[in-house]
Amino acid sequence: PITPGAKWLGTPIDELRRMPMCGTPLPHLKATPCHSVMIRTDLLQEGEVPVPYPTKYKDIWDDAYVKMPCSDRNLFPVENEDGSPVVQSRWELIQNSLQSRFSSSLDVTDAILRYNVRYAKKWDFTALNLLCTEVLEYAEVEQLFGSILPKMVHLALRLPKLCTQPIPLLKMKMNRSITLSQEQIASLLANAFFCTFPRRNAKKSEYSNYPDINFHRLFEGSSPRKIEKLRTLLCYFRRVTEKIPTGLVTFTRQGLSFPDWQSSKNQLTRLHITCEGTIEDQGCGMLQVDFANRFVGGGVTGLGLVQEEIRFLINPELIVSRLFTEALEQNESLIITGVERFSNYSGYAESYRWSGNHSDDTARDDWQRICTEIVAIDAIKYRRFLEQFIPEKIRRELNKAFCGFARPGVESRNLSAVATGNWGCGAFGGDTRLKALLQMMAAAEAGRDVAYFTFGDRELMGDVHEMHTFLTQKHVTVGDIYRLLEQYYSNVCRNCLTPRPDQNLYSFIYDTDNEEEDTAKPTASKDN
Ligand code: AR6
Repeated sequence: PITPGAKWLGTPIDELRRMPMCGTPLPHLKATPCHSVMIRTDLLQEGEVPVPYPTKYKDIWDDAYVKMPCSDRNLFPVENEDGSPVVQSRWELIQNSLQSRFSSSLDVTDAILRYNVRYAKKWDFTALNLLCTEVLEYAEVEQLFGSILPKMVHLALRLPKLCTQPIPLLKMKMNRSITLSQEQIASLLANAFFCTFPRRNAKKSEYSNYPDINFHRLFEGSSPRKIEKLRTLLCYFRRVTEKIPTGLVTFTRQGLSFPDWQSSKNQLTRLHITCEGTIEDQGCGMLQVDFANRFVGGGVTGLGLVQEEIRFLINPELIVSRLFTEALEQNESLIITGVERFSNYSGYAESYRWSGNHSDDTARDDWQRICTEIVAIDAIKYRRFLEQFIPEKIRRELNKAFCGFARPGVESRNLSAVATGNWGCGAFGGDTRLKALLQMMAAAEAGRDVAYFTFGDRELMGDVHEMHTFLTQKHVTVGDIYRLLEQYYSNVCRNCLTPRPDQNLYSFIYDTDNEEEDTAKPTASKDN
């Protein structure tokens, strides 16, 4: 029974480890074959805008690197006066189109469509028009057209000066990192806003296994969601064009081999569980979980507006991961360190509203990265409730969480706690009690404590805490829990004919333990 009014249970949150306090000193930042660093590391200095590396733009136009809008190879066909086909530089056209003065959203639309002619009849800019004509106040429109958009154009067109090094694609099965400056990211995102990335618009393109990067879907339709998304992103663009942020951000694709769950002797680590607060507000310095889609960012440029999309909107630098991160495989996660939060919000999904500037005062590490570490892990989407208890699915989710939480080679005492919550249990339909247990198991295996945010669910807070206490007090190992889960499937779920099992998982675990004690007792009494 929970004390009435209790807002949290378990270990006090202040006792859990956070970065930078718990970490070890970082090695000197330097590029390696597995880590592309897009700036001059020798000139990196606190408070100074990092200098791009190399000095002169270098282009690679192949399937291992991002095809850049400013590449000489970015061409489009036109007809000569005599009707013969020739090709023209698309970057030149982009520059000409964007440098014309914008005085209304129609001008912006026209400019974008001049270099995306093929989509002139397909793309719709209703949301952008509505924002400018009906939502923003007069002064805000003035600021948008008088200052923000021209500065965004300037930022976008400086691309070949800022992103001088080819950006490798983080493809499936690659364990690789990319470190970019916040300024470089801003320029890439300004290009995404103006939809300049080549080969990224057709569904069946060479990038079909990558998320969308051009923002055209953000402008589409009249949903209030789009308006709020645009407001949030324009806040970011206003902020970065007023004052260039000076930090770096690292993106790491991590694939791991799986633990043998069955034979794990680890016991659960510490748990702080609360029905108040959010991962992003209270999880400062912890490893913050992004309840991701395998296409990272999910519906951020479309209609999606739940945990992942909201995070990508308030920390827009996350969006650039969509430019180079191929869909995640079963054993992979994407770890992002250093993104800044620019916006506050209220509400969720339909009720989401941008609510102004956020000033992010999180400390920076020696690489000038904000000490915010986010990990994208994609749960499975379940349509039928019982499916998630199939051992194969259980293993898949355990492994996925483990691939996000584990840091091979780093000692447990140097690892921050995992800040998480109802991963896979909203849009993806999972069971919170099962997923909480799986995440605690994965965290234990990775040697990290857990801060769990139930997002207002007090009953869940009580239930998970009770289960955690029970398992810890009895010294039940991760391997034991894994076997209990298998038993639950074969005894309760496998032959279940109703959509939901007759007995829930937690009561099964408590009962099975009692039975074991009951069967143990008579033997003991006989011996006496
Ligand atoms: N902090 C803590 N908990 C939260 C927060 C927060 N900021 N926001 C939401 N929750 P959901 P999924 C809780 O549906 O099921 C996206 O489109 C809240 O209880 O976002 O893994 C992705 O791109 C919520 O119901 O995650 C994927 O396509 C629950 O977390 C898909 O959704 C689950 O949030 C992933 O869906």
